[in-house]
Amino acid sequence: MDTTGRLDNLQSKIEESYGGKISALRRDIHREPELGFDTKKTAEKVLVALEGLPLEIEVGVAENGIVATLRGGNDGPAVGLRADMDALPITEETGLPFASEVEGKMHACGHDGHTSMLVGAAHALCGMRDELNGTVRFIFQPAEEGGGGGRVMVEEGVAEGLDSIFALHLWPGLPFGTVATKAGPIMAAADAFEMEIEGTGGHGAMPHLSADAVVIAAHVVTVLQTVVSREVDPVEPAVLTVGEIGAGTAFNIIPEKARLGGTVRTLNEDLRRGMPGRIEGLGQGVARGMRGDATLDYRFSYPVTRNDAGAAARALETATALFDEESVLELPNPSMGAEDFAYFLERVPGAFVWLGVGEDASGLHTPQFAFDEKILARGSALLTALVLKANSPAG
Ligand code: NI
Repeated sequence: MDTTGRLDNLQSKIEESYGGKISALRRDIHREPELGFDTKKTAEKVLVALEGLPLEIEVGVAENGIVATLRGGNDGPAVGLRADMDALPITEETGLPFASEVEGKMHACGHDGHTSMLVGAAHALCGMRDELNGTVRFIFQPAEEGGGGGRVMVEEGVAEGLDSIFALHLWPGLPFGTVATKAGPIMAAADAFEMEIEGTGGHGAMPHLSADAVVIAAHVVTVLQTVVSREVDPVEPAVLTVGEIGAGTAFNIIPEKARLGGTVRTLNEDLRRGMPGRIEGLGQGVARGMRGDATLDYRFSYPVTRNDAGAAARALETATALFDEESVLELPNPSMGAEDFAYFLERVPGAFVWLGVGEDASGLHTPQFAFDEKILARGSALLTALVLKANSPAG
């Protein structure tokens, strides 16, 4: 199949043929955001938008996920395309006419866009079915935002038999329409910890009769700053953030307990596995020195999102052929954010690709996050082109 010819004007062809449908779906999903695995209505909207297409559809994957398979007219590789469907517990402040109608829930990470772009790609690729080599698996995943829906989908076999896999993420801070990725790690491993500090409570006026959990906690927060600055190789990226601290009931009571909560981000697996020991050692050392104690609860969560070098190169080449060189960026560094597409990339060579929504766009996970819907046809075109490139014998 002549891939080059098919890429000509693909974005405008998709915009013309499916633009209205993609945008309507995006707004429909945006109005009614759902959290975690609870994406039943979103999945129903996706199914309606896929109606009439020559797809084999499996529902109820990872609770409310969908896997839709397109078999091309000829033999060839199996390519996976994955979009996430879940929203965030944030109250929207965009003022958009199709803003969230659910108090406290919002599509503030663009997953409404990702889902709609994938539906657009499904329409475009189904339209080319007869000339298509191999199969395409369209994967609509719940629970990216903390639930590990990607892990559950992989456990349920969704990655099996795939030769490559790709996913897009809308990305504020990058020029509008820019396609960016890199070989190797693109997002960090994200782990979480809670530390309970135990002291002895007492009267605020008699500190010598207690072991002050507040003061111990304050010292532990400070000493934890030395984990990255004094224990990690300075050229190795790592982040340790204490984002929660809690203790006490009144201004004049020394509390018995304090609680810290934090996150650790790393790119190196050995470093990652060594972190709980350092955090526990420092926390307990400080607490015991102050007549208290500390217990650590550490939870390993999303692994590093690691792109296959060949797949990342293919994504950049495809974007250059589809758009132009100015629209393509090979990222110098990963983000220390995290993404559960990582679980798919542990099984299948592939690439996670960022799609710029503008340098001035509000950040992901903010109540103001919004994007120009022109990006949707562009994303659909990119997903379509990634399949055509993968399916083309000429590469
Ligand atoms: Ni996201």
